[in-house]
Amino acid sequence: METSVDYVRVFLPWLVDFLMQWTTRTFVQLVQLVLVLFRHPALSSPAGFPHTGNGLWYTQPGDVWSREWLPVGNGYLGAMLSGGTAQETTQLNIESLWSGGPFADPAYNGGNKQPSEQAATSQIMQQYRSAIFQSPTGDIDNIEELATDPGQYGSYAGAGNLLSTLNVTGSVTEYARWLDMDQGLACTSWTQNGANLLRSTFCSNPTRACVEHITSPNSKTLPDLTYAFTADIESGLPAPNITCLSENSMLVNGFVSEPGMAYALIFRAFSSSPSAHFQCIQQPVPFGFPPNATLHLPPTMQDAWITWVGDTEYDMGAGDAVHNFSFRGTDPVTKLKNLNSGGLSDYAALLEQHTADVHAVLASPFALDLGQTADFTKPTDVLRAQYTVDGPPSTNAYLDWLLFNYGRYLLASSSRGLLPANLQGKWANGISNAWSSDYHSNINLQMNYWIAEMTGLSSVTSSLFDYIQKTWAPRGEYTAKVLYNISKGWVTHDEVNIFGHTGMKADENSAEWADYPESAVWMMVHVWDHFDHTNDISWWKSQGWPLIKGVASFHLEKLIPDLHFNDSTLVVNPCNSPEQIPITFGCAHAQQLIWQLFNAVEKGFTASGDADVAFLSEIRAKRGKMDKGLQVGSWGQLQEWKVDQDSPTDTHRHLSHLIGLYPGYAITNFDPTLQGTGPAKGYTKRQILDATTVSLIHRGNGTGPDADSGWEKAWRAAAWAQLGNSSMFYHELSFAMSENFAPNLFSLYNPYDPDPIFQIDANFGFPAAVMNALLQAPDVPSTTSPLVITLLPALPAQWPSGSVRGARVRGGITVDLAWSRGRASSATLTVDSGASIRQRPVQVVYAGRMLDAFTASSGVKKVFNSF
Ligand SMILES: *[C@@H]1O[C@H](CO)[C@@H](O)[C@H](O)[C@H]1NC(C)=O
Ligand SMILES: *[C@@H]1O[C@H](CO)[C@@H](O)[C@H](O)[C@H]1NC(C)=O
Ligand SMILES: *[C@@H]1O[C@H](CO)[C@@H](O)[C@H](O)[C@H]1NC(C)=O
Ligand SMILES: *[C@@H]1O[C@H](CO)[C@@H](O)[C@H](O)[C@H]1NC(C)=O
Ligand SMILES: *[C@@H]1O[C@H](CO)[C@@H](O)[C@H](O)[C@H]1NC(C)=O
Ligand SMILES: *[C@@H]1O[C@H](CO)[C@@H](O)[C@H](O)[C@H]1NC(C)=O
Ligand SMILES: *[C@@H]1O[C@H](CO)[C@@H](O)[C@H](O)[C@H]1NC(C)=O
Ligand SMILES: *[C@@H]1O[C@H](CO)[C@@H](O)[C@H](O)[C@H]1NC(C)=O
Repeated sequence: METSVDYVRVFLPWLVDFLMQWTTRTFVQLVQLVLVLFRHPALSSPAGFPHTGNGLWYTQPGDVWSREWLPVGNGYLGAMLSGGTAQETTQLNIESLWSGGPFADPAYNGGNKQPSEQAATSQIMQQYRSAIFQSPTGDIDNIEELATDPGQYGSYAGAGNLLSTLNVTGSVTEYARWLDMDQGLACTSWTQNGANLLRSTFCSNPTRACVEHITSPNSKTLPDLTYAFTADIESGLPAPNITCLSENSMLVNGFVSEPGMAYALIFRAFSSSPSAHFQCIQQPVPFGFPPNATLHLPPTMQDAWITWVGDTEYDMGAGDAVHNFSFRGTDPVTKLKNLNSGGLSDYAALLEQHTADVHAVLASPFALDLGQTADFTKPTDVLRAQYTVDGPPSTNAYLDWLLFNYGRYLLASSSRGLLPANLQGKWANGISNAWSSDYHSNINLQMNYWIAEMTGLSSVTSSLFDYIQKTWAPRGEYTAKVLYNISKGWVTHDEVNIFGHTGMKADENSAEWADYPESAVWMMVHVWDHFDHTNDISWWKSQGWPLIKGVASFHLEKLIPDLHFNDSTLVVNPCNSPEQIPITFGCAHAQQLIWQLFNAVEKGFTASGDADVAFLSEIRAKRGKMDKGLQVGSWGQLQEWKVDQDSPTDTHRHLSHLIGLYPGYAITNFDPTLQGTGPAKGYTKRQILDATTVSLIHRGNGTGPDADSGWEKAWRAAAWAQLGNSSMFYHELSFAMSENFAPNLFSLYNPYDPDPIFQIDANFGFPAAVMNALLQAPDVPSTTSPLVITLLPALPAQWPSGSVRGARVRGGITVDLAWSRGRASSATLTVDSGASIRQRPVQVVYAGRMLDAFTASSGVKKVFNSF
């Protein structure tokens, strides 16, 4: 009965909506759908497609890179496949290949002021602060003099292309290409001249190598095969030196620019036939051009594969004062020759090792079921075209599930190297990419890691924390001194490259982007969450705590008394919400985040083993005096700034002042005894949540005139789930999918552009929002506040049954959960065993009712079967 009610609730409004919204766009989508269906009559997925349905597949080769090509990666390397037949173009990435930095300019200093400018800068800062406090509206229109020309900021760059060419002509039939997320493989199969051909590509994390294998299962021989490296598709990458290392291997050695960082790739070709005889041939080149080589295999073999490893001279460990911020390490050829290449000649073993690794990382710790039915009759682009906002389970649930799995696949494939996932993960083509494909840290880098702890990918965060420790903190100390005249701790701003860009990056309207000294404060949420989920005390002592202490020390000094309202609170000044003016003081976003940071210091102090009690006392004292960034404004909204300046028609993409709703907890777990001070005096939790809801509604659905990106919708979906509103949650979630995700399920910044920009954050924000509808355990201000674990807080009617296995929440707790007909059917909570488990009070809530309250301690297990 409940099921039929659910269907009516979902289906009727959907139908009505569908009929009513007969806009041009819907019409165009429908025409596209009919065309797609017409092109693919009576299909079924290719033979090698995973029987679980956990993959993407297509019946045409990919055309536009950002919309159609398919990604593989191991963290160190990425590759994008077009799914070509006789010739495949594999677009290559090396995680640290960046233009700019000290490689392009020896005087590069991370976009900072010179030491000689410190005194003058400090005075300018004081002038801006007073001007803001004294302004009747508490704002000024620029802080340009604090920003610095970014100089050689650089960009993440593509690393050329591997061309794999079979000398075969004739028409292609039975074409399919797919991405197998169970095994981490991209494949293309087709028939040509009577031969079936199958090409499979993967990047293996254990060997750090990528592998492209070609075989003809039904014939004894492959056509003549050539492997070549080309830079010219990659506009702007200078031609490298390509030389034969042996009969079956070649070295590509180049610079990203002149001058610029050196990189190298070593390609090695193999066949399983003992008589296979590759030839490496130096090609004739015009006089003065760099050498070029290709690898050939005559048409006698049944299979062949090429492997490649790649690296640069970049070294994150040389990004500090001791190394003069050179970021320069061993030359890349030596690095590559030092990698063990012994296992590359046994394809079956390589593949087996890779699929076991993918299983261990993705499938063994965690699984989600949304009650989806895998549809093996429709290619992914057709499923995508049929997907609709608020659509019924029949068209939506399978794709929701695929996009969820894809987020975890992409994170595992891009974050398990030495650097974290950037704005495009590790997949970027061309010499310079949108926003440098850098680490924007005012929502984007954060969103990249929202799923890590909860979905069993905790270990992939090590590249993120190493990157922050080694490239942010060292030069961030210098920025703290020279820009803020603060000699404790360190600071970074919004836009960060891999060369320690810690200054405010000057551009038009700089402040909106540059004036964001809270970027590291927000990242410390991830540092704290990692400890809170794992209870890994040795990691906390060696890496987590020093990071948090460094950032908190800086902000302790930076908070100043409010000289506008003279209300005895401490505020930030100058500040603005990320990418949003005015330039003012006491921004809600900053105040909430810093308050959360100070709580993390207190909660983690004992475990840190730090004896600096004076630091802890100062944290407590200033936390008490801080403005908490929570005020209800003139139209019932949560104020974005301390002076009430919010506009009800502001549909800005960021939800900055709602940070404490999601992913933070300053709003979600508002506690009047701790936060009801200063201007927040007297508010109840209900009032704060109501004001937050008003702001969220007025912020619109994430397609304002300012932007139409996927991440803004994913954030809104997660925020609605936090408020327990399942219909608004699913509306935003499905709106994100239908508006921003390409046929290859990449999230697009400008989806209606013929060659749109790929921006990976929503690929990670989407699964995070899904998790937030199924299971919530937001952080709490103190070790004595109960951790509230809510089961199915915003389960939409589109997923009437399903399960989660292995979800991780704070306290080292693993949650297994199942539901059917829209209601919880079983739940098991298991606390990790071990001496490091910190005992804490826990409450389990379902449908507004507390099921249980207990103390989580080592090995405790709770089973719920009736709800
Ligand atoms: C250190 O780096 C600065 C630029 O940041 C450069 O001017 C200087 O020559 C370098 N010194 C050494 C010893 O390499
Ligand atoms: C920088 O800070 C120090 C110590 O707080 C202070 O004595 C000095 O006057 C400040 N410098 C400027 C130029 O404001
Ligand atoms: C391709 O095959 C054709 C016919 O089999 C042959 O004539 C030609 O030389 C081959 N081309 C290359 C580049 O091997
Ligand atoms: C090397 O030669 C191959 C075969 O002619 C060609 O496809 C490739 O573009 C060349 N590479 C470069 C970097 O010029
Ligand atoms: C290619 O080799 C030449 C000669 O050894 C060298 O001068 C040049 O720097 C090299 N170019 C690249 C891109 O490595
Ligand atoms: C706060 O104090 C300053 C002087 O310290 C004064 O100019 C300002 O008017 C005061 N503001 C209010 C709201 O009292
Ligand atoms: C999103 O909001 C815009 C502006 O209010 C509205 O026109 C549009 O219909 C909304 N779309 C969805 C899917 O909510
Ligand atoms: C969800 O939010 C919408 C929009 O504010 C509202 O109309 C609806 O009543 C809410 N639903 C619930 C269950 O709170």
